Amino acid sequence: MQPVRPFPDGFLWGASTSSYQVEGAVAEDGRVPSIWDTYSHTPGKIDGGGTGDVACDHYHRWREDLDLMRELNLNAYRFSLAWPRLFTPGERRGFDHYDQLIDGLLERGIAPVVTLYHWDLPQALEDGGGWLNRDTVERFAEYSAACFEAFGDRVEWWLTINEPWIVGLLGYLHGLHAPGYQDDLRGEVTVFHHLLLAHGRAVQQFRASGCGGRIGLAPNLAPHYPASDDPADAEVSWASDGYVNRWFLDPVFRGSYPDDQRARYEEIVGPLDFVHDGDLETIAQPTDYLGVNYYSPRTMEAVPGDTPWPWRVVVPTDVATTGGFTDGVVRTATGTPIVPAGLTDLLARVRDDYGDVPILITENGGVFPEQIEAGGRVRDPQRTAFIHDHLAALLDAAALGVTVLGYCHWSLLDNFEWKLGYDQRFGLIRVDYDSQARIVKDSARYYGTLAAANALREAR
Ligand code: FCB
Repeated sequence: MQPVRPFPDGFLWGASTSSYQVEGAVAEDGRVPSIWDTYSHTPGKIDGGGTGDVACDHYHRWREDLDLMRELNLNAYRFSLAWPRLFTPGERRGFDHYDQLIDGLLERGIAPVVTLYHWDLPQALEDGGGWLNRDTVERFAEYSAACFEAFGDRVEWWLTINEPWIVGLLGYLHGLHAPGYQDDLRGEVTVFHHLLLAHGRAVQQFRASGCGGRIGLAPNLAPHYPASDDPADAEVSWASDGYVNRWFLDPVFRGSYPDDQRARYEEIVGPLDFVHDGDLETIAQPTDYLGVNYYSPRTMEAVPGDTPWPWRVVVPTDVATTGGFTDGVVRTATGTPIVPAGLTDLLARVRDDYGDVPILITENGGVFPEQIEAGGRVRDPQRTAFIHDHLAALLDAAALGVTVLGYCHWSLLDNFEWKLGYDQRFGLIRVDYDSQARIVKDSARYYGTLAAANALREAR
């Protein structure tokens, strides 16, 4: 039995959602269509044919959901603002909605952690080129400024862009996310740059607004490990790190793109001439903290000649990585390796390479088998273990000197898991999509006891 391990005072115990995944109410209160409405309504795009039209109906049921958070002792809620609700000049109903939500959180002692962009770009902007068009960056800066003005008096925690890497990778290279482009590597890196620039412009607007509070980026980061002792694997492990991690962290914290990945891009797509003078200074505006979405490490194997990159991600075999995992590694129900030690490695590395930036875990979670009992109880012991082990890994990072601000589990609710539809349940709270009933899972109750104690204890 492990001893009880305390968390720092003021630790944020949170859960995360995003607007399109939970809100529904897509045609209400002046909301305009987003790229995800378009994409999810395109036949064949979403497994099971789902859309976000209704989702968890959180737009209407938020009071009940906030009460549940309170019941679970959570003191933070990470959610995103739907830009399409705040897009039409003169339309205030979207602002009124988020005013109420924010006030409702504060009344319950829950800190709002607000993401400005979690992928639901207004379709009207996509029609003008979306994130491929540099003008979208300025539209985002204006939108951010409006949000700071409306909510900045009450929101302490702001996040600019969620997972820029996934936006480019799945939306422009693999065609698996809106807007659904495929094999457009130049598009991908253009979008990366514009998203980073949008981040920097939002930070500038935040400082100019005079709001108190803190702002940062929320990238998904993955520690990298070579699949074997072969130097070629070590080489691609570093290279892929340049693609996934350094491409975002270097500009934000050092004001430059990593030379190695820049050279790899330029070899394939030509000069990155969409990077203008002064852009990197904008991107490198000092931030207050870093949101980290952590799901899994990447174990890398060299595949010489493969395109666009000469590597692939494998499940580790006979090599003991520094994360201490080999084959036989436990996986979530969707096959994602569960490697809590990867989180410790990742955070220690961020601190070593980029300085003592305070870290908020903005996402971490998985899909697990769940047993629903006759009385309505939902048993999900693997999620409980997952939460315990990742919080222990976070404490291990803190013991190494990393400043940890909090942990927001993905997700508060089962929800619309993008291309994968409604089958993949990441929630602490189960949603019955027929009745919209909420059922608190066992893992959520466990998480709630940790939040109440501000300490890590074994699950009973
Ligand atoms: C992340 C997304 C989040 C959710 C989780 C499972 O990539 O930010 O919206 O889909 O994965």
